[in-house]
Amino acid sequence: MSSSGDLTAKITEALQQATAALSSAPDTDTLRRVANEHIGKGSVLVGLKSSLGSITDAEARKAAGRAINEAMRAVETLVAERLAGLERAAAQKAAAGEAMDLTEHLARRSRGHAHIVTQAWERLEDVFVGMGFKVAEGPEVETDFHNFTALNMPPNHPARSGFDTLFVKHGAPGSTLLRTHTSPVQIRVMQEWDLPIYAVMPGRVFRRDTPDATHMPVFHQIEGLVVDKGITFAHLAGTIEAFTKAFFGSDFTSRLRPNYFPFTEPSAEFDVRSSNGKWIELGGCGMVHPNVLRAGGVDPETYTGFAFGFGIDRMAKERHGVADLRDMYANDLRFVRQF
Ligand code: PHE
Repeated sequence: MSSSGDLTAKITEALQQATAALSSAPDTDTLRRVANEHIGKGSVLVGLKSSLGSITDAEARKAAGRAINEAMRAVETLVAERLAGLERAAAQKAAAGEAMDLTEHLARRSRGHAHIVTQAWERLEDVFVGMGFKVAEGPEVETDFHNFTALNMPPNHPARSGFDTLFVKHGAPGSTLLRTHTSPVQIRVMQEWDLPIYAVMPGRVFRRDTPDATHMPVFHQIEGLVVDKGITFAHLAGTIEAFTKAFFGSDFTSRLRPNYFPFTEPSAEFDVRSSNGKWIELGGCGMVHPNVLRAGGVDPETYTGFAFGFGIDRMAKERHGVADLRDMYANDLRFVRQF
């Protein structure tokens, strides 16, 4: 048997080798393998332990055993520390790889803005509020009564077929629908508000249409309704012209062309012309039909009124020179950021 000094040197050497190997292990797998090499079966320290029996002096044997155990514990502690350190580093690395870099957006300081249809909607409200109108909104899911019957289109009226209606599975078949225009809000306002009425009613409307450059199945309208004593077609034409100048600018003018709507009589189509001479069709208008006044609970012998309905999307399209309506709903940032 070697001297106890010899043994101490061997333990110290084994511990040094273990420490060096563990410190340079680059990952947890290597670390576990290295740990096994230095304190597992077949390791130098375990070998030294099994040779203890050959030390005859009991005190010396005990001291040597203690020294080996201490060395092994030191190695175990180091393994645990290194393992925790490597795991922490691996988790940090994974988190860094997965993190979203929000600072990129902060640096660009982009706040976004309202959609051009929302911008047009809000400006339209502002213009009409400035002219003394109040704003009302109605439901997007409507009854057949409000969307058609009360607007002088009883069941089987031929004008109904022009609306490409989307029906909703609710109640009796055909009784509930996605409103095809904002005109049903005329009925709701007449039924709920006191007279006289000066109201605009913006909102989303729906028709069974295939999207193309000038049509979308979901679009927006703004309805206007005036009901008062002595209202004439001149008030309608004057309001439309005042609106045109206020919204589009003083170099724009409006014109009315005869047309037919079941809910107005007489009815007209409303166009605006820009300074470049191009006429744009914006919507319909007319004097509120006596049947519609009655459906709204208004006496047509005492009151008269006018109504109009414009497409908001078309106004935004014209204002910004958008070639294709579909671009306005594709959410392509290269398009959105231009406005
Ligand atoms: N509601 C009609 C449409 O969508 C427009 C309109 C409104 C016409 C009010 C006359 C009066 O086509």
